[in-house]
Amino acid sequence: SIPKFVKIVEVGPRDGLQNEKAIVPTAVKVDLIKMLVSSGLSVIEATSFVSPKWVPQLADAKDVLEAIQCVQGAKFPVLTPNLKGFAAAVAAGAKEVAIFAAASESFSRSNINCSIKDSLYRYREVAHAARNSSIPVRGYISCVVGCPVEGAVSPSQVVYVAKALLDMGCTEISLGDTIGVGTPGTVVPMLEAVLEVVPVEKLAVHFHDTYGQALSNILISLQMGIRTVDSAVSGLGGCPYAKGASGNVATEDVVYMLNGLGVKTNVDLEKVILAGDFICKHLGRSPGSKVAKALSRI
Ligand code: HMG
Ligand code: MG
Repeated sequence: SIPKFVKIVEVGPRDGLQNEKAIVPTAVKVDLIKMLVSSGLSVIEATSFVSPKWVPQLADAKDVLEAIQCVQGAKFPVLTPNLKGFAAAVAAGAKEVAIFAAASESFSRSNINCSIKDSLYRYREVAHAARNSSIPVRGYISCVVGCPVEGAVSPSQVVYVAKALLDMGCTEISLGDTIGVGTPGTVVPMLEAVLEVVPVEKLAVHFHDTYGQALSNILISLQMGIRTVDSAVSGLGGCPYAKGASGNVATEDVVYMLNGLGVKTNVDLEKVILAGDFICKHLGRSPGSKVAKALSRI
């Protein structure tokens, strides 16, 4: 059976924009976030406090987060790769953070320039600092079914990282199919393995839609009891350190499917579409969500 309510974690302003070459003005990012809040989304990943040399698009993290401090109605977690990022995030008003590890060694090195083991050491420091400030920490795991360099990733590698993140106190663990290669055929055994060590209510799924498998993978995850789903407005996104990775699954498409299943989200589809139109116009691109395309033709 499928959960009656699903929490959508909107990652568009962060995952969606981080790979855009042309710098999006801070004011546009802030307007996008405000539109997403008004659609009813309760969690919106706002930006990342990472090295501006690695992700130039999010170099304005401080300005974005400060500009939305007064916005009510949603939580605005931000990515923090280390203590430096954590301190900067807290100084700018962050009340929730996310750390991001990988299940594949090669991806860990290309994304955060260190081994999995070293990253977990670093993240333990962040988690410790966060606990002292009563700040909840989400833990991401990238490449949960496949890695751009290593190919197939075994469930045991995901379990190892998931256990480490859980032990350091992560309140939620998001399982990322970074390059969107998974199908229910690989996602189910991975989830079964992770569910042995992480309670289902702490798990989230994060599917990129490179091979068009995201909705199938989400549906199967819901059937396995998962209640938190990551998505990006208009299917924006891709990781700069994952060659060939296309966008996240589109929030509009997820909401449409959940509406069809009778699952509550508290998200207004029309308003997400408006937010998608807004950012796509800015990026000079047509909407990346099939639902938005279909409805704009009617
Ligand atoms: P490094 O170069 O190894 O770091 O980068 P370092 O500690 O040697 O420092 C080098 C320089 O970076 C120094 O500056 C530091 O001060 C600075 P310099 O002395 O050269 O002027 N620095 C920082 N500046 C600002 N904020 C910071 C920070 N830390 C160091 N927090 C580092 C290591 C982790 C920082 C770097 O590799 C990095 O920023 N990586 C982030 C990559 C990223 O954001 N990737 C995308 C997000 S993950 C993702 O998309 C996957 C996900 O969506 C799930 C999925 O789909 O699978 C979450
Ligand atoms: Mg991602």
